Amino acid sequence: MKPIIFAFPGNEKLAAYLAGKLDAPIGEIEFRNFPDGETYIRIIDKVRGKKVIIVCTLNQPNEKLLPLYYLSNVAKDLGAKSTCLIAPYLAYMRQDKIFREGEGITSRYFAHLLSQFTDSLITIDPHLHRIQNLAEIYNIPTTVVHAAHHISEWIKNNISKPLLVGPDTESKQWVADVAREVDAPYIVLQKSRLGDRKVEISIPQLDAYRNYTPVLIDDIISTARTMIETVKCLIKEGMKPPICIGVHGVFADTAYEDLLSCGVAKVVTCNTIPHKSNDIDVSDLFVEFVAE
Ligand code: R5P
Repeated sequence: MKPIIFAFPGNEKLAAYLAGKLDAPIGEIEFRNFPDGETYIRIIDKVRGKKVIIVCTLNQPNEKLLPLYYLSNVAKDLGAKSTCLIAPYLAYMRQDKIFREGEGITSRYFAHLLSQFTDSLITIDPHLHRIQNLAEIYNIPTTVVHAAHHISEWIKNNISKPLLVGPDTESKQWVADVAREVDAPYIVLQKSRLGDRKVEISIPQLDAYRNYTPVLIDDIISTARTMIETVKCLIKEGMKPPICIGVHGVFADTAYEDLLSCGVAKVVTCNTIPHKSNDIDVSDLFVEFVAE
């Protein structure tokens, strides 16, 4: 039996794409807030005996979590065989250790919550750093797909002599993969985070790369301070205006505008979070796994 696909509001484009590829129906939901702010959800299509796929990227996760919990539970109460969450961006992966006394590992708490109400999860390049595998924190089957190939293709088609730059040691995993595929050199910088919106970047000697175009690659652009500080250092070193590529363009507040005005040539993201910078379409990464 074909699965039925539901788009959490804001995720209609990816849901429609998957429905087309899988020849599966898009389910209709009535979704609104009561006057007091509580959530009302009604599933209009029949889901009994069906596998339900819910498409919901998880930026701004706090406001999505409860409605998502309701949607998955309503589906199950109506007889759905299972629910699978497609979350192109998976939130809360960065608080993966206790940095200061009194904190908790919210990555774990968030994983625990999602594991309570959805039967499986598919996501793109979650921020795996100290947690090396989603199975360490999720109690449900999880599938991770990677944007590296799509990013490599974009670079090959758009930049003639790229120098790939990872702004911190975590980014090495993405940058090294892309560099291999593009057949380009790469460097990985050292970053110190001094606060939510304050980072320091140290940069190596770049004489060998003067006539290259720097291409910064990071998994998440949130406040954009990591990218901005890196761009400033590269420009100070006399490098060409860099291209910034983020897998997930979270863009807190004015981050996108701030980044655009710091001397970059272009800012490009994958479409894991709908945004005007989306220029790398990664929708097809889900098809094979959803079909399974
Ligand atoms: C963390 O290490 C991530 O890989 C990114 O570098 C980080 O999330 C970027 O955050 P921001 O844009 O706030 O500097």
